[in-house]
Order: sequence, then C-alpha cells, then structure tokens
Amino acid sequence: MTTDLFDDLPVAVTTESLAPGAAVLRGFGREGDAALLQAVEEVTAQAPFRHLVTPGGYTMSVGMSNCGALGWVSDRSGYRYDPLDPLSGQPWPAMPASFCELAKSAAARAGFDNFVPDACLINSYEPGARLSLHQDKDEKDYSAPIVSVSLGLPAVFLFGTVRRSDKPQRYRLGHGDVVVWGGPARLAYHGVAPLADGEHPLLGRRRINLTFRRAG
Ligand code: SIN
Ligand code: FE2
Repeated sequence: MTTDLFDDLPVAVTTESLAPGAAVLRGFGREGDAALLQAVEEVTAQAPFRHLVTPGGYTMSVGMSNCGALGWVSDRSGYRYDPLDPLSGQPWPAMPASFCELAKSAAARAGFDNFVPDACLINSYEPGARLSLHQDKDEKDYSAPIVSVSLGLPAVFLFGTVRRSDKPQRYRLGHGDVVVWGGPARLAYHGVAPLADGEHPLLGRRRINLTFRRAG
C-alpha cells in the first residue's frame, strides 16, 4: 500500500494541551506547507535571514527575518519591534495572506477568537541552532495569544510556566505542528533545544518556525 491513497484527504488534527491556555495542534499547518514555504522564500528574498546580536553581545544561532507591519529585532541597545528592517531601512515585507489565515484559524481552534497578527517572526534553524528559555514580552498587549508554526526538521520545544525556575516540559514539534499559547500561559517561558541533524523532504537540513504576534 502507498500513502497516495490518502493524498486527497484533509490532514487529521489532534489537539494536545500543554497547560491551561496552551496547546499543540498536531499537523494543523501541514496542508498548506508548500504555499507557506514559497511565501517564506518570497519574504526572505526581500528581508534575508540574519543572525541578530543580543544586548549582551551574543550572536544568536537562529537566523531571523520578519514580515508584517512590525518586526522583532535585537541589537546591542535592546530588543524591540520595528516597522523597518534595519538591514534595508525599508518596511518589512507584507504578511502573506496565507500566513494570516493560518494564524487566525489556529488561534480560533485553540479558543482565541479574533486574533489579528501584525508581526510574524521567521526563524531558521540549522543543526545545532537553539533558542534559550525566554518569555515573549516585547508586545504591547498580552491579551492576544502567540501562534507558532513549525516546518521542516523536528525540534524539541521547551515549554515551562510563568516562573523561570520551573523546569520546562519537552515536546517534539514536527512539520506542520502549531503551538498556541495565551491567557494564563501567555508569559510562559519557552525555548528550543539544539536542533538535531536530519534531512527533511521539503527543507533539507533545516527547520523554519513562524511566530505570529499581536505586537503593536
Ligand atoms: C520563538 O520562541 O520565537 C520560536 C519558537 C520556535 O522556534 O519554536
Ligand atoms: Fe518566543
């Protein structure tokens, strides 16, 4: 038997709760994967991935770009949202409609209606790249959730509580998995363990993550 039999069926989505206000929607982004990756190519042709420097002077192992009205940036002076790409001095590329639709529908599926993202951080991980434990707290208003879409190589996502001292749980995020956190989990500490090497049919030795926020 081949999997061709199932090619026309919608991808089944199961929801796994991480904490009150936080869930993984398994496979939620898989159906539109080719279109999402095409849009990532278009955005990053205009606003290429770059390795930002933290205020402490450390160069991040994750390559970052943005689309939407606001983009998340870091440099020696701090973290912030900026309407302009500091590399080009131009506005960030517009958020593709397919991104916005996916983020809205994932948020709604997780119980957060009327999510309208104005920022999408695009993270590119190569083997060994990691993101240390942090809170997403540069946004103006914490009433909107965070929606995070994983594509390509699987990663181990660390998801804790609002207290940094609580040991985070580890979850495998595969291609098309979407995590939504908001409400009581909005300020939960989270991060990504060093990416294990591998080969993904669409992305090769790479993981892409789209993180949607209401920043402004
Ligand atoms: C992030 O916290 O900005 C990204 C998380 C991820 O790559 O899964
Ligand atoms: Fe984050």
